[in-house]
Amino acid sequence: MLILGIETSCDETAAAVVEDGKRILSNVVASQINIHSKFGGVVPELASRKHIQNIIPVISEALLDAETSLDKIDGLAVTQGPGLVGSLLVGISVAKALAYARGLPIVGVDHLEGHIYANFLEHNELITPFVSLVVSGGHTHLIYVKEKRKYEKLGQTLDDAAGEAFDKVAKLLNLGYPGGPIIDKLAKEGNPEDIPFPRPMLKDSSLNFSFSGLKTSVLNYLMKEKKSENPINTVNVVASFQKAVVDVLVEKALKALEIKKVEVITLAGGVAANSALRSEFAKRCQERGYKLYYPSIKLCTDNAAMIAALGYELLSKGENHILSLHEDVSKTGFAINLK
Ligand code: KG4
Ligand code: ZN
Repeated sequence: MLILGIETSCDETAAAVVEDGKRILSNVVASQINIHSKFGGVVPELASRKHIQNIIPVISEALLDAETSLDKIDGLAVTQGPGLVGSLLVGISVAKALAYARGLPIVGVDHLEGHIYANFLEHNELITPFVSLVVSGGHTHLIYVKEKRKYEKLGQTLDDAAGEAFDKVAKLLNLGYPGGPIIDKLAKEGNPEDIPFPRPMLKDSSLNFSFSGLKTSVLNYLMKEKKSENPINTVNVVASFQKAVVDVLVEKALKALEIKKVEVITLAGGVAANSALRSEFAKRCQERGYKLYYPSIKLCTDNAAMIAALGYELLSKGENHILSLHEDVSKTGFAINLK
């Protein structure tokens, strides 16, 4: 079954062709970073406009790369939410038009659930139950995946998402956007023990997170150093900040495994691309005999292959949302399951 996946929830216009939810035949992502970077974050109106320009060429490229055509596509999967409404509407409208014109089934899927599916897509041996840490620019969730499509939310951020904290700290230091990959690279040259930034909610008994206070601590540190006319050691600041984020994410995720009595953890979302996060998880999981999975970098950040893989799950069971599909995430099964 050949599925065409479409993803336009934020600032990447993406399309992919995936066979039977497993084999990626193409995975095209048109980034808008150069448009948004000068603003230090995504400008929703500019994002929607760029999606309109990019969506048809990106879909055409995905079909071409997969050496296929719309005639051979068996169904469509599109991100229904969460995301920027104007951006989502572009992907959904094009997907609905294609489905209608070609008489194809179409399903709207949840972006976060798509991130979780990136691991199923790449790791054939992955079996439920497991705990998934979904860390992106908009979300930080700990989710118990009881079985495919059956979820329990264990914890989430009470304010900023982990990726948002990376982006905001990079902005404070004028490092560029998105901050995550830039900080990841710079932190390799810094001393993570240099500045004792707080580990928010580490001792709290819940599995929730909070990152906005950490960002403020970085800001206060920078202001204090500036006032004292001390030079800022940027690499040490970002390494120490990153270590604080990683420590909290790892500690809470391991606690979730203990609570749920499972020994498998998957990382998902853009922040799962972080090299310090991956290596700390690898070390800690090895010590405890836990199995760790994370997607390749290209499948951590936003992409449509994960959307097609999740779409296969629904389409192969005969689901078709054509008339009911709109940009309302509260209608996706995932959102309902998470409540
Ligand atoms: O999943 P994603 O591509 O989009 C959302 O669904 O939000 O995640 C984007 C987020 C951004 O905040 C970005 O800074 C962060 O992921 N990110 C990283 C890295 N690569 C991307 N954060 C830390 N280290 C990275 N290597
Ligand atoms: Zn995402």
